[in-house]
Order: sequence, then structure tokens, then C-alpha cells
Amino acid sequence: MVKVFVTGATGLIGGSVARQLRRAGHVVYGLVRTEEKARVLAQDDIIPVIGQLAGLAAHSALIATCAAVIHAAFDGESFLETDALVIHTVLNAPFASGQKPLFVYTSGCLMIPNRDEHSGYVDDFTTPLPHSSQAYRLKNEQVVTSATTVHGVVLRPGFVFGKGAAHFERWFAQFHKNVPEVVIPAAERQYSYIHADDLAEAYQRVVENPKIASGSVYTIGDDSRITHIEFARVFAKAAGYQGKLVASDANLWPPMDRSCFVDWRRFGLEFNWHPRHLPITDEADIYYAGWKARQGL
Ligand SMILES: NC(=O)c1ccc[n+]([C@@H]2O[C@H](COP(=O)([O-])OP(=O)(O)OC[C@H]3O[C@@H](n4cnc5c(N)ncnc54)[C@H](OP(=O)(O)O)[C@@H]3O)[C@@H](O)[C@H]2O)c1
Repeated sequence: MVKVFVTGATGLIGGSVARQLRRAGHVVYGLVRTEEKARVLAQDDIIPVIGQLAGLAAHSALIATCAAVIHAAFDGESFLETDALVIHTVLNAPFASGQKPLFVYTSGCLMIPNRDEHSGYVDDFTTPLPHSSQAYRLKNEQVVTSATTVHGVVLRPGFVFGKGAAHFERWFAQFHKNVPEVVIPAAERQYSYIHADDLAEAYQRVVENPKIASGSVYTIGDDSRITHIEFARVFAKAAGYQGKLVASDANLWPPMDRSCFVDWRRFGLEFNWHPRHLPITDEADIYYAGWKARQGL
């Protein structure tokens, strides 16, 4: 059992990780912004720490007592400043001499160039695109992996699914309403996916084996290679959608302007881990039913 501090403990990744670590017997502190969310965490036996990323330094003394810190929060309004501040705070926490905790920085895959022009494949060793809109991650990754006060590890997940991941639900309301036509942008692009629980188990492996991972960057995505249009077709069927799907070349978002998928095997070999869940499209009925339930439909 170790003590772990998780930022983003109410979020998709951080929440899944916090619950997974607790299930594995660890003592988990979760940063939350409100009393209301603190009560939600406490119901899962996660110890809420009320605060903001920008004020993380106020919790340095607690952080310094933890064997692992996981940064999985994302402040959409000021991510450049807050990510840098979180990293600075953790690296400079007053850890006892001789104590070298684990620090996991949650990054992403979209800033990594494809291994070759045609495959869409990126791996753990390709260098991120310095000019991409996600380039701030590159700098953060380098600060974390070269840190001397912590075992710094970077995880780059593919798109996370399960647990109500919103990215996948953008068309569901239109399918449900049976609108005459649904436009699917970036129709032929393929991206990497990973179930939230599989990803959480990967974080657990790192927490329990901090020295294996020290200084490393890992990509984590399952073996699915689904294009957006395939994804839409499968979910349209699950929803009983009768209208027309229109494949479009338009982008969703600049970093998604190309296929981007990753492999889990290097991480899997080093940590004896593999994705347990079937690809998202193999269980579309389950995920569509989950969406409907969350909408109260
Ligand atoms: N989801 C994916 O598919 C995916 C894939 C690859 C990488 N990532 C990366 O993984 C990270 C987490 O993503 P996610 O999808 O789990 O995000 P998320 O579900 O939106 O969760 C974000 C978390 O950050 C917290 N937060 C935001 N601003 C904060 C602040 N100022 N102070 C304290 N906490 C704050 C939120 O708290 P509240 O509950 O209070 O809002 C929430 O717990 C991001 O860096 C993201 O880019 C995500």
C-alpha cells in the first residue's frame, strides 16, 4: 500500500485512476474544486483535498508525504500555465531526503508525428511536433522525464472511452432524434482508443513499479483501428438511426487533422499489462445504452 495524490480525481482519467488505485488497496488523495465533488469522492473512499491547480503549492506538505503523484487534471482555460505550475510544485515539494516519489504526467498522442506518412502509426520514440497546438506537452514531458527529484513518467493515452467519455457521443443525440442527415467530419481518419478502466490499470502498474518506468514516455492505445465513419456507422446501427451519414473531409480540430494511432506493446511488455476491453465498436450497444441512461432517455 502506498499513498497517492491524484489531480483531476473527478475527471474521466483521474477519476478512473483514483478508483482503481483505491480498489488495489492504496490510500488515495484526490484534488477537487468543490465541497459537492468532495462528497462524491469520499463515497468511493478517496480522500478529498479541496483546492485548485493554481493553488497546489498549498498542499505541498501533503504531496511530500506521498509515494506517487498523478497529474490527470486539465484546466481548459489556462492549461499552459497550470500544467507548468503543477509540475514545478511537485518537483519542488519538500520530500524527505532519500525519498524519490513517482510523478506521472498525463500527456496525449495528438502532438506526435506519424511514424511514416502512410501508416498513421506513432510510437513511443517519435518526437512530438514542436509546432503543433499540443507542443506545450512536449516541453512538460521533457521537464518531467529529466527530473532528478522524482521518478518522472509520461503516459500518452489514446482517446479514452467508457465511463461516459464525451468525445464519442457527439453524434448520438442526432442519431436518437433521427435527424435526416448527420455529417461525419474527418471521416477517414483513424485514432487510437483505450478503455478508461484499462488505462487506469496501466497507471496502477506504474504506481506499483515506479523504478521500471522512471524517465520514460509510453503511448497506450488498444488495437482498434477504426475510422470516424466506421465508428459512426456502428453507432448509428446501435441507435436504430434511419437517416443518412455524410462522410466529410472537414476537420474536427487541427491536431486531429491526420490519423494517429499508437501501440500498447512496449508498455505491456515492461509492465505485464494488456488492454482487456474489446474495441469500442464491438460493444457499441453497451456504450449507446450508457449514453441514453445518462441522458435520462
Ligand atoms: N479523455 C481523453 O480521451 C484523453 C486522451 C489523451 C489524453 N488526455 C489528457 O488527459 C488529461 C485528463 O483528461 P480527461 O479527459 O480525464 O479530462 P476531464 O474529464 O475533463 O477532467 C479534467 C479534470 O481536471 C479538473 N480540473 C480542471 N481544472 C481544474 C483546476 N483549475 N483545478 C483543479 N482541478 C481542475 C476537473 O475538475 P472538475 O470536476 O472540478 O471540473 C476534472 O477533474 C488531459 O490533459 C487530457 O488532454 C485525455
